[in-house]
Amino acid sequence: MEQTFALSQTENKELAYKEFMKYYEAFVEDEDDVVSVMANTSAALKEAFGFFWVGFYIRRGDTLRLGPFQGNVACYRIPEGKGVCGTAMKEKRTVVVPDVELFPGHIACSSLSRSEIVVPVYDSRQQVAAVLDIDSDEVGTFDGTDAIYLEKVAEVVARLFQ
Ligand code: SME
Repeated sequence: MEQTFALSQTENKELAYKEFMKYYEAFVEDEDDVVSVMANTSAALKEAFGFFWVGFYIRRGDTLRLGPFQGNVACYRIPEGKGVCGTAMKEKRTVVVPDVELFPGHIACSSLSRSEIVVPVYDSRQQVAAVLDIDSDEVGTFDGTDAIYLEKVAEVVARLFQ
């Protein structure tokens, strides 16, 4: 099996995400192991969009624990309510941070990270089972378009947390 997630164009973000979703949904629909799907989701997003860091933190009790990711080594544990990830978990919403230096309590796993988006992954009881965390080494990378499509990605992963 050879699968590439290199996109045919990346100028238009919405078109890029639409192209990504077509390949991504087909690529993961027959897989039923949640860790495997989180691992390949991280790899696919990194390959397609070239993000600095892409990965999952998985909820265990009131703490997020580092899950499958692509990028530099990262913090193992994030308590509920701490950092961008813990805020998304506590408030059960996608958090877009255009400039991490302006987000009080941001947890800097890497000093190169400049902007960030965190999207919750919900289980069947609508509890946060994990979060998808993506970092950029540039300010202002993420906006509402990223939120819309990354929430669709999170929904695909969420099926496996039922
Ligand atoms: N910056 C995140 C911590 C995780 S790293 O970005 C991989 C936060 O503030 O929650």
